[in-house]
Amino acid sequence: MACWSLIALLALSQTSSAHYTKFPEGFTFGVATAAYQIEGAWNVSGKSENVWDRLTHTRPDMIADGTNGDIACDSYNRYREDVEELAYLGVDFYRFSLSWARILPTGQVNYLNPDGIRYYNDLLEALEAKNIEPLVTLFHWDLPQSLQDLGGWANPKMIEYFRDYADVCFREFGDKIKSWITFNEPYEICEDAYGDEKKAPAVNSHGVGNYLCSDTLLKAHAEVYHLYNDTYRSKQNGKVMISINSIWYEPKDPENAEQVTLAEVANQFKFGWFAHPIFTEEGGYPSIMVENVARQSEAEGYPRPRLEQFDEYWIQRIKGTSDFLGINHYTTHLITGAGVDPVAKSPSWLKDIGALTTMEVGEESASEWLRVVPTGFANLLRWCKSSYNDPPIYITENGVSDRGTLQDYKRIQYFNDYLTEILNVIYEDGVNVLGYTAWTLMDNFEWRAGFSERFGLYYVDINDPALPRTPKLSAEYYRQLTNTRELPQ
Ligand code: NOJ
Repeated sequence: MACWSLIALLALSQTSSAHYTKFPEGFTFGVATAAYQIEGAWNVSGKSENVWDRLTHTRPDMIADGTNGDIACDSYNRYREDVEELAYLGVDFYRFSLSWARILPTGQVNYLNPDGIRYYNDLLEALEAKNIEPLVTLFHWDLPQSLQDLGGWANPKMIEYFRDYADVCFREFGDKIKSWITFNEPYEICEDAYGDEKKAPAVNSHGVGNYLCSDTLLKAHAEVYHLYNDTYRSKQNGKVMISINSIWYEPKDPENAEQVTLAEVANQFKFGWFAHPIFTEEGGYPSIMVENVARQSEAEGYPRPRLEQFDEYWIQRIKGTSDFLGINHYTTHLITGAGVDPVAKSPSWLKDIGALTTMEVGEESASEWLRVVPTGFANLLRWCKSSYNDPPIYITENGVSDRGTLQDYKRIQYFNDYLTEILNVIYEDGVNVLGYTAWTLMDNFEWRAGFSERFGLYYVDINDPALPRTPKLSAEYYRQLTNTRELPQ
């Protein structure tokens, strides 16, 4: 790109008054994707159907633009192009996910698909050749349909199935992968897919399946962490973590005590639900959550609380099972709902957080839930430091959507402002942030939004069968960042 336009870019980024610009020694930068969102090749080379294949094929009306992941970015066939783009961006690591149904078509270990194993080995070798570290997610939402047919994450048997699947992945790929993520965004898996219809398999269980799911998921996560510790860590010397998503909730009026309380409750229901059992001394679900759900359940006539605390064995078994805290963060919502009694609300109070919040904050994006509020990110990070005993943190996703433009100045501004807040909390508050991951390498299948919301550094023309990837201005910005390791001054 011509020099002058890069200068223009830097000038744009200057609009934020960055106090600190230099990233600490050893801070790493990456980009992320997920299998269903980019791979395509949904039914070739032995891959079986997963829950997103099923949803998009049977309910295309549930996807904003009627698209699906059948082809997506065709990364199954074009992964070499992806790796070239990663090298161009100069990233230290690439976060991607493994497709369970591609590796184990029955969902279980009775049959390993050689083409699936070969595909990921080829990708890993291509990354190694460019000196790009893999950061690999075991589960990014694409459950084999055969396991969903047995109840999916509401079925406690999934603890064993997930452990078996992880065992295969550690064994087959563990010599090349030193950083693992068990689950991506457990809240979205449990609440959006089992408590609601926002994600596949879209089981709306009226506030029961979401909690069955969280019991299973947290136990499965812990079992996989222990498996790695007991069997693989000494040989493979890697790390295992979980990536938790946060919409960060803040009181609209910080002087309003009720709003302050409600915001804290909302953060516990959203982030604490999965972070508290793993990252606190006490362990277990946040007590405010257990108490609230018990009161709701009684009021609604359920015979037993929809969410029950883990027993002592599981509290201990789950506690401390993550080497880092992985945070996916995009946005902040403001709580206005003073006077509302969250306990007396509906079967799943989580759904009603929306009624307590306003979106009248920050700039809009193409996603209705995503407003640009960089200061909220800093507040979340400070809260994580104090709530979870100063954990080492990786930002495993951060980014913003638009409708698709190569001149994506707003995305550059977003990255620059959110990265500025990371530097602020590192230098001013001693928050231990070690790395940053931009979502996402290229425009891809954004779940129920299809291709109508685009988060990529590269533009993908889905109407051209060659699926060309074109770097946006933000790709040039990110390349500059990984090269200089500082924000523009
Ligand atoms: C979080 C998810 O992990 C990812 O799959 C999704 O595309 C982004 N957020 C943007 O919504």
